[in-house]
Amino acid sequence: MAETQVAVVGGGVIGLSVAWKAALAGYRVTVIDPSPGRGASWVAGGMLAPVAEAWPGEEAGLALGEESLRRWPAFAEALAADGGDPGLSTEGTLVVAFDRADADQLAVLAEYLASVGRAVDTVTGRRLRSIEPGVSGARSALLVPGDLAVDNRRLLRSLQAAALRRGVRFLDVEATAVEPGLVRTGSGDVRCDVAVLAAGAYSARLRPGLGVRPLKGEILRLRVRRGSLGPPRHTVRGFVEGRPIYLVPREDGELVLGATQYEAGFDETVTARGVRELLEGAERIFPGIAEYELVEMAAGLRAGSVDTLPYLGPLADGLLAATGHHRNGLLMAPVTADAIVAWLDGEKPPAEVEAADPARDGGH
Ligand code: GLY
Repeated sequence: MAETQVAVVGGGVIGLSVAWKAALAGYRVTVIDPSPGRGASWVAGGMLAPVAEAWPGEEAGLALGEESLRRWPAFAEALAADGGDPGLSTEGTLVVAFDRADADQLAVLAEYLASVGRAVDTVTGRRLRSIEPGVSGARSALLVPGDLAVDNRRLLRSLQAAALRRGVRFLDVEATAVEPGLVRTGSGDVRCDVAVLAAGAYSARLRPGLGVRPLKGEILRLRVRRGSLGPPRHTVRGFVEGRPIYLVPREDGELVLGATQYEAGFDETVTARGVRELLEGAERIFPGIAEYELVEMAAGLRAGSVDTLPYLGPLADGLLAATGHHRNGLLMAPVTADAIVAWLDGEKPPAEVEAADPARDGGH
């Protein structure tokens, strides 16, 4: 007999969301992870911004991201009741550009969003100053009011509490391989009816052949000091010398500044170059940040996928993939959890998930 009905390998935002929702649906669930609630999810900025981060050619990602965004308010409300308030912010995203090349890039985004029927609100000089007084000298700006943001660390704590409350068991060991109905670990095998692979950047180590690779990102956390200009109210995403930089304010006065993006294997070192890039970019967008206290530097490994879409769905009978979320793990957690529960129940997942079929490009 199976030791557990559902074994979720990985206790980041995806694994925890799947575990909580599966337990709510009545399944006996075990999460296998040596450090649940950490990894890339702990380092994340918390932008839930499918529209501000959209790009021509990535229509399936936009549709899936927006479907998940629609699910976020109800997900956060249910989580607040079950595990604690995850700190959802509804202020929206402001996208800004400074030099001509960056403004051209912003114009491409604005044109693209208009062409796919998304409302874009162009913001100029005086209005920009009144919306975000600390953002100065932008050549052009767009306001995306529907985007959300979440406090990733509160979210992870809430998910862990909610999962425990719903009877999820946590096994703090490292998985070494994931097979249909079986998870191998350093401390023995876990048998299950269905294994869910939600191990982020490490997924292909556990299931060789899966098209997931680590995509390093560095972030900084800063804190406003007495006498310094208050943090922006909105999430601010800027193009600076072709690179996207974002500032995500937290309710407690902290500001998350992210993120670099490199192919660096499994290296999680914070580099001087990464810190310089982030601070130079942020000062361009929000000069007041120079007076802030620098409280943390961190690096995490996103689960990069070949085409930026995740891998969601059956890899075999008794094995489901919930991985490869690229830059969108936090955003896509609600739709991923709902899709996995649909598969467990033998129901159809949301239609937008079809594009994330793991079989599409050698995903398995
Ligand atoms: N979603 C932003 C990032 O991955 O950096």
